[in-house]
Amino acid sequence: MSVLVTGGAGYIGSHMVLELLEAGENVVVLDNLSTGFWWAVPSSVTLVKGDMGDEALVLKTITDHDVTSIIHFAAKIVVPESVADPLGYYLNNTAKTRQLLECAVKGGVKNFIFSSTAAVYGDVSSEPVAEDNELTPVSPYGRSKLMTEWMLQDTAFAHGLNYVILRYFNVAGADPKGRVGQSTPNATHLIKVACQAALGDRSSLDIFGNDYPTPDGTCLRDYIHVCDLAKAHMDALSYLRAGGKSDVFNCGYGIGLSVQEIVNVVKKVSKVDFKVNLSPRRPGDPAAIVAKADKIRDILGWKPEYNHVEGIVQDAFAWEKHLKTRNDV
Ligand code: UD1
Repeated sequence: MSVLVTGGAGYIGSHMVLELLEAGENVVVLDNLSTGFWWAVPSSVTLVKGDMGDEALVLKTITDHDVTSIIHFAAKIVVPESVADPLGYYLNNTAKTRQLLECAVKGGVKNFIFSSTAAVYGDVSSEPVAEDNELTPVSPYGRSKLMTEWMLQDTAFAHGLNYVILRYFNVAGADPKGRVGQSTPNATHLIKVACQAALGDRSSLDIFGNDYPTPDGTCLRDYIHVCDLAKAHMDALSYLRAGGKSDVFNCGYGIGLSVQEIVNVVKKVSKVDFKVNLSPRRPGDPAAIVAKADKIRDILGWKPEYNHVEGIVQDAFAWEKHLKTRNDV
């Protein structure tokens, strides 16, 4: 019995693979290496290089490795990019997941854990948002993921697949042991970009908008450590295997931090007063998005271990420093 991790060579997927190995699971990774890295997959794990839209390859992988559970990370994730290239997002995130789901059904897979996003909620108030909130995504990225949630729910109902949908808030940080981290060269994540500015890899950091209806005018987000997120998937897997009912859960801490606050923490941790510019709003950005985070704790028994922003920034900064020493990234 194996767990198939799509996107397992990418940022979150690579942390998931380590977590699964530590739990003694058999793991197979499917990744087209468009943004992931072969070296992020431990040598003990089979890495199938290919696309989740390649039905023959996916079905063969499911059969060859006796895959009973799929954890599906492979996706495009950059909100402004989705505004510029909506069809690319609907192809990659929605249409190709449809192919993956068809293979899951044909291959008799039992459990499916899907990486969804807080972006499905759209422009909410700064109050924490619960899973049953209205879903009105404001970006093609959010819509591509919401369409996939619906497709998964319909497929599960028709074919007896069990699922957990995890709606990620802002994922950040890196493996505290320094094995993997966010390595995409042109990543746009705030904490990563700020760490690069602190290390002099960028001349400055732009704050996109300081006229939002938030306490300091900059956007509020709920930043979650990538290792706590990987742990949430382990809890979801155990829950489904124990017969838990298919469901949707927010993955966040319920703590809203502004862009300005994050910049201040990165300056404090790095001890570098890097240059910050005030820039216009970025298309597709909601003003605030913070998780109501009790359902996942109550039902999946999830217990976050890294819910301190300074620790998240320390791990992200350590990984960014490490990346500078490598010539394969
Ligand atoms: C992130 C995720 C998205 C997830 C969403 C949930 C990424 C790439 N995207 O989007 O998958 O669905 O969280 O909330 O991780 N900012 C700046 N300057 C910068 C970079 C960012 O001011 O150089 C601001 C943005 O305008 C935004 C905040 O920082 O207000 C966070 O941006 P970012 O890290 O790109 O993540 P999201 O767009 O929130």
